[in-house]
Amino acid sequence: MDKQEAPIGIFDSGVGGLTVMKDIVERLPKYDYLYLGDSARTPYGNRSFESIYQFTLQCVKYLFSQGCHLIILACNTASAKALRTIQQRDLPKIDPNKRVLGVIRPTAEIIGKHSQTGHVGVLGTTGTVQSESYLMEIEHQFPKLSIHQQACPMWVPLVENDEYSDPGADYFVKKYLDLILDQSPDIDTLLLACTHYPLLMPKIQDYLSSDISVLSQGPIVAASLQDYLQRHPEIEKNCSKHSSQRFLTTDTAEQFDHHATTFFGREVSSKHIKV
Ligand code: DGL
Repeated sequence: MDKQEAPIGIFDSGVGGLTVMKDIVERLPKYDYLYLGDSARTPYGNRSFESIYQFTLQCVKYLFSQGCHLIILACNTASAKALRTIQQRDLPKIDPNKRVLGVIRPTAEIIGKHSQTGHVGVLGTTGTVQSESYLMEIEHQFPKLSIHQQACPMWVPLVENDEYSDPGADYFVKKYLDLILDQSPDIDTLLLACTHYPLLMPKIQDYLSSDISVLSQGPIVAASLQDYLQRHPEIEKNCSKHSSQRFLTTDTAEQFDHHATTFFGREVSSKHIKV
């Protein structure tokens, strides 16, 4: 590794975070990026708080060891279950000048601007939904908004197993969309609060009527990161700028590259690592 390199770290339990990284790189192309997908242990969605926290912390420490000063947890489950503890308990001990940011707060900050009816549906993993992080964050930003949540535990496995565009996926797309729409006829905005879900977007949109808008997080997180870097020059100056993108996985590189190329929209060549 180039000694000067201080990439922005991007972490997800698997390949889902690449849907966010794609938008980040498009908006902020000059920075170096280091993506880490914990594919050997994906999905995180149904795991305990302790497992998600320990796995995420291991990956965060690994990215710090590779020169990252700033890490984005491009994973809602890790943002919901591990971020606060890492920020409050671990970071002060590891290095108080480093930063770890999540994807829930930036999403909560803008979601209310998208709904006319004041009813928003949040689709996420079981871990994200049970944490109630979206309910708390959105309530703080938009107290009048009604939030309806639905866990979609089969969607990440469909995506990670390359089944997201097959006819078999239709059953589970319909199942969870029906469950959330049954919660209120007034829902006009659905948030894909899992970074894997944008791969299911064509099927989701096919099933929904056109008066329901569906939001994915990539553009939201990319805009929020740009704003953060402008407001924090002391962090921005530590991020190296050679427009490089590298990819790490805890599982086999071949498996990761195959999926990642689809998620990222161009050829990805990753390296296997042990955290
Ligand atoms: N992409 C992760 C998220 O945003 C997926 C979680 C999982 O591994 O289940 O929540």
